[in-house]
Amino acid sequence: MRTPLIVLVLSLTALASGFAYVQWSKGGTGAGLYSRLWSPDPVQGYWDPAKFYQSTQMVEGVFQGEQCVQCHESITPGIVADWRNSRHAKAGERVWCSACHGDDHQRLHLPTPEVCGGCHEKQHGEFKDEADYGFPSHVLAMDRALSAPHFVDKPKAEVQSCVQCHSVATKCDSCHTRHRFDAAEARRPEACITCHSGPPHPDDDSYFASAHGRLYLAEGDQWDWSKPLVKGNYKVPTCAYCHMDGGRHQVARKSLWKFGLQEINPHTSANKALRREWIGLCGDCHEKEQARGWLSALDQERKQAWQKLYATEDILKGLRADDLLFPAPGERPPYPLEAPGGPGSKVRIGYFEGQASAFYNVSAIERDYFEMWYFDNLGAYKAAAHGHWAGVARGHKRMSESMQRIEAGARDLRALGEAERKAGIKSDSGGLWQGGAYTDHNRERN
Ligand code: HEC
Ligand code: HEC
Ligand code: HEC
Ligand code: HEC
Ligand code: HEC
Ligand code: HEC
Ligand code: HEC
Ligand code: HEC
Repeated sequence: MRTPLIVLVLSLTALASGFAYVQWSKGGTGAGLYSRLWSPDPVQGYWDPAKFYQSTQMVEGVFQGEQCVQCHESITPGIVADWRNSRHAKAGERVWCSACHGDDHQRLHLPTPEVCGGCHEKQHGEFKDEADYGFPSHVLAMDRALSAPHFVDKPKAEVQSCVQCHSVATKCDSCHTRHRFDAAEARRPEACITCHSGPPHPDDDSYFASAHGRLYLAEGDQWDWSKPLVKGNYKVPTCAYCHMDGGRHQVARKSLWKFGLQEINPHTSANKALRREWIGLCGDCHEKEQARGWLSALDQERKQAWQKLYATEDILKGLRADDLLFPAPGERPPYPLEAPGGPGSKVRIGYFEGQASAFYNVSAIERDYFEMWYFDNLGAYKAAAHGHWAGVARGHKRMSESMQRIEAGARDLRALGEAERKAGIKSDSGGLWQGGAYTDHNRERN
């Protein structure tokens, strides 16, 4: 009788202290899960204004909208010109500078999505409700970046940029930039590719190499971008036409493969319903049967990719089981907030086991696997999703080459292990990685 009770009390206590610990760790000068392990630089006030922006104290006074414009005509003429050309300046009731920044120059603020939402309830409401679809999404993007262990594990210079791209969650000027706030600008693919580019998410390469992207490049300049993104208005779709159809401010809503991060079952009833929506959208311009075929080509591509990834991860698991990784997972520093030797710490390898920090501080063969996973695999995914067939072939060729390299590397490690065993020696990193120059140096300077 007693044991279940004791177990219950112990687990409740563990749960409560776990919760208290997480709350405590969020209470530092930074933000997010690791807020005690980093402090913000002033520039972060512009990317996450609600948390970090502090008003300039250079100018004193409370001003009316027209005064702001007058003085800023000479201070920041570009901003005033853009504002004058915007719908905000042309609206019946003008949206003055002070509507977004406040009127007291020593208590200025930079507008958060809530400020825009005061007048644009529909878009802001959709944006906020995107959280219902989970990760990855725009509204949760900042939380996600700040909770990644490598955000505090790597030198600050390498992780500043995370906040810039992931600021799509904390302000509304990512796609319609200040101070034009132009819907036409946001409809074009260029609005997305400042962030949706680079090796893990080559949306730019895959789109511009697709039939859609090529036609956009050839003819897009002649189209009337003031029209909304609905059937009949455009010859080929752009990023927002497909991912924000109907002007809905929710990019995660139709997501099936979720960035390719997990293997999914495309045939659940929920996923079938999403697929029908995609096919309906393609149906604006294509036969549905054809669209169905293209989407199942994507499923096939993913199936093959996951087979390769699982097989390769098994090689690494085998090496770990035989203690042939150097440095061994147990010789590496624990992740931030994890106690050395604590439960679950240090022993993980590879992406499937949640090694989000697999970018570095791992053995060479694991790094090869990381590159296969993050660059070759995700590149092939985006190529298949966007109809860039040459990119699919290239991604899979690279994955196969990586597999061969990893198989050869594993054979070498096994031969080395065997030689060491015969000679009666065992390599030992001597604690170098645990608190080595790289680890401590980075963590202390965040
Ligand atoms: C008398 C001139 C003057 C008037 C009037 C004025 N500003 Fe400014 N504003 C400045 C100057 C100068 C700066 C640059 C301050 C600095 O570099 O710290 C500035 C900077 C700003 C910034 C950028 C702050 C930052 O931290 O980057 C904003 C936003 C701003 N002003 C908005 C306004 C608004 C809104 C009004 C009207 C309520 C207004 N200004 C009225 C002169 C003025
Ligand atoms: C519809 C809202 C809105 C209006 C109206 C508006 N701004 Fe801004 N302003 C923004 C946003 C958004 C930013 C970028 C904030 C950030 O970086 O987080 C910004 C940034 C700025 C900055 C910082 C410089 C920069 O570009 O990084 C200045 C200065 C500024 N605004 C001045 C003005 C002036 C002057 C006016 C009036 C002519 C004005 N703003 C009208 C939304 C607005
Ligand atoms: C005080 C109210 C107010 C605030 C605050 C405000 N807007 Fe607006 N916005 C308007 C009005 C009014 C229009 C013009 C609507 C019209 O003409 O039908 C407009 C139009 C727009 C448009 C459409 C432009 C086009 O090309 O069709 C966009 C995009 C936009 N706003 C974005 C923003 C963003 C982003 C913010 C916050 C940084 C913001 N607005 C803050 C009132 C506001
Ligand atoms: C300022 C940077 C930025 C811009 C501009 C931007 N995005 Fe994103 N987007 C992100 C980030 C960061 C994420 C991932 C968020 C996360 O970590 O959960 C994301 C996520 C997404 C996702 C969801 C991915 C998934 O796997 O479910 C889609 C779809 C998307 N964006 C499409 C677009 C489109 C279309 C545009 C242009 C109209 C655009 N984005 C503009 C930064 C941006
Ligand atoms: C060039 C812009 C850019 C930079 C810089 C960037 N990201 Fe992202 N990140 C994105 C985009 C876009 C996605 C969504 C990709 C997709 O769905 O294709 C994403 C996805 C992610 C995801 C996975 C999404 C999820 O919710 O699971 C994480 C975690 C993440 N980023 C963290 C970071 C961290 C940490 C950094 C800094 C080391 C960083 N990002 C730097 C644009 C960027
Ligand atoms: C990922 C890119 C992206 C982000 C981030 C974004 N928008 Fe938009 N926005 C668009 C696109 C694309 C359109 C044009 C939609 C269409 O053609 O139907 C648009 C249109 C608008 C319009 C004009 C609507 C109309 O019918 O005239 C407003 C207002 C607006 N957005 C407000 C916001 C607000 C407020 C936020 C922040 C909560 C925001 N946007 C963030 C891409 C974005
Ligand atoms: C013809 C429609 C179409 C166009 C145009 C398009 N995409 Fe996609 N995109 C897709 C489809 C379909 C997927 C796979 C969706 C899925 O399985 O969830 C996808 C996947 C994505 C993802 C990962 C989201 C996920 O659910 O896994 C991102 C991010 C993305 N696209 C961004 C972009 C960007 C940025 C552009 C423009 C440069 C763009 N897309 C152009 C249809 C399109
Ligand atoms: C706004 C119209 C429009 C929409 C929506 C659209 N497409 Fe297209 N698509 C086109 C046009 C136009 C072409 C070029 C046809 C040609 O090459 O002659 C094209 C070409 C293609 C091609 C290349 C065909 C080939 O024969 O090589 C593929 C694949 C494709 N689309 C897939 C899709 C998918 C999948 C969707 C939905 C996620 C979609 N398209 C949505 C207009 C559209």
